Amino acid sequence: MKVAPVLNPLRAGEKVAVLLPGMGAVATTAIAGVEAVKQKLAQPVGSLTQLGHLVGDLGEPGPRLRDVLPLAPFDDLVFGGWDPIPDDVYRAAVRASVLGRHHLDPIRDRLEAIRPMPAVFDTAWVRRLDGPNVKKGTLRQKAEALQDDIRGFMQRNRCARGVMVWTGSTEVYAEPGPAHASLAAFERALDASDPTVAPSMVYAYAALKCGIPFLNGAPNLSQDIPALRELAEQQGVVTGGKDFKTGQTLMKTTLAPMLHARMLGLEGWFSTNILGNRDGEVLDDEASFKTKEVSKLGVLDQILDASHHPELYGDVEHKVTIHYYPPRGDNKEGWDAIDIFGWLGYPMQIKVNFQCRDSILAAPIALDLALLADLAQRAGERGPQEWLSFFFKSPVTAPGRSQIHDLFQQQINLHRKLREYALAAAAVAAKPAVG
Ligand SMILES: NC(=O)c1ccc[n+]([C@@H]2O[C@H](COP(=O)([O-])OP(=O)(O)OC[C@H]3O[C@@H](n4cnc5c(N)ncnc54)[C@H](O)[C@@H]3O)[C@@H](O)[C@H]2O)c1
Repeated sequence: MKVAPVLNPLRAGEKVAVLLPGMGAVATTAIAGVEAVKQKLAQPVGSLTQLGHLVGDLGEPGPRLRDVLPLAPFDDLVFGGWDPIPDDVYRAAVRASVLGRHHLDPIRDRLEAIRPMPAVFDTAWVRRLDGPNVKKGTLRQKAEALQDDIRGFMQRNRCARGVMVWTGSTEVYAEPGPAHASLAAFERALDASDPTVAPSMVYAYAALKCGIPFLNGAPNLSQDIPALRELAEQQGVVTGGKDFKTGQTLMKTTLAPMLHARMLGLEGWFSTNILGNRDGEVLDDEASFKTKEVSKLGVLDQILDASHHPELYGDVEHKVTIHYYPPRGDNKEGWDAIDIFGWLGYPMQIKVNFQCRDSILAAPIALDLALLADLAQRAGERGPQEWLSFFFKSPVTAPGRSQIHDLFQQQINLHRKLREYALAAAAVAAKPAVG
């Protein structure tokens, strides 16, 4: 029998550190967004935790999530992070040019006060960038320096808890190797500064050692290796990833379930994007793009389930490309040409042209993940949180369990968990105070 979670209540005024390795477009849009919402300059559109309602088990709308779940309020979040580029958050946000000056200038002082700590960075892992704000020493020394950063930040800002969300660049493609096979092997690799240990893994290691959840917004392996699964389990810490589900994959995992639900066939799905921000520049490097490509390509197979429907999905041609095109900045444009077939095999076509703003879609996801991971941590969860798959392109599962990509199935699973937490929160509230 499944035991209902026991939720540690929120204590009024307790601060939560939201630590962001990588303070570029997504991170600065998230931080500035929280400040803008706090100053009532704008609404938190796109954020499930801020605007969503609980969905009942028959799909009926329930109460507002914020009214039934003890989620940390925006006022209690304290932002910090690391970046090899030393720009403060105001400067980095202006450079990213996602948000207009009418949103940034009224909160300029608050944003200028947030400066990135020196990063664990290696141009072997992100080849298109470089910057002077970096840590020196062996990987072991860097991992220890990160833990000192985390503990020092939490102490200075009187944070009771913390969450780390990787908003750094996509690292070059890697597969798990011997250095990742166990915690002991990983720690030996830190001592030896083994080149197969990526910077994002060092951040994940430091977060888990400090007992704070690690969520991965990029497709890098990061925490998704046996060594760090072992550490998360040992430390009793929540993890989640990988790769924020925005833009084209959000569309794909919405449309593909429709084709499957209506038993319509698919011959091919051609997806292409133009993108001109720094993320686009990093992804212009073949090795970083390969990491992204694997993350983007995986979704159709699971949703369409060709093994049960070879006549509909047995021979699907699926292509994904991203082109770095500077004039567009953060305003990504994606095109999908989808070749489907219906009754008696007659062909049809769907064309999607999504003119999105990448970081406008990703920022609320980073915040929702921080708040929900904090909730899960207070409920005593540990390891990969499959119910957070809703937010990811390439959801991490416990070993041996398959990924779910269908957005609607992910939504059902997410709300099932949130209903459990709402019940647990109500049980805590109903308990008479002791003493
Ligand atoms: N914007 C989206 O819709 C979206 C969706 C899914 C995933 N992502 C991923 O989120 C990440 C951030 O995207 P972005 O648009 O903010 O990119 P960005 O290039 O604007 O910001 C990334 C930042 O990370 C920094 N960085 C790189 N390596 C680092 C390290 N080792 N330590 C600390 N900082 C490091 C870079 O200097 C840069 O400032 C990327 O990996 C991207 O692929 C973005």
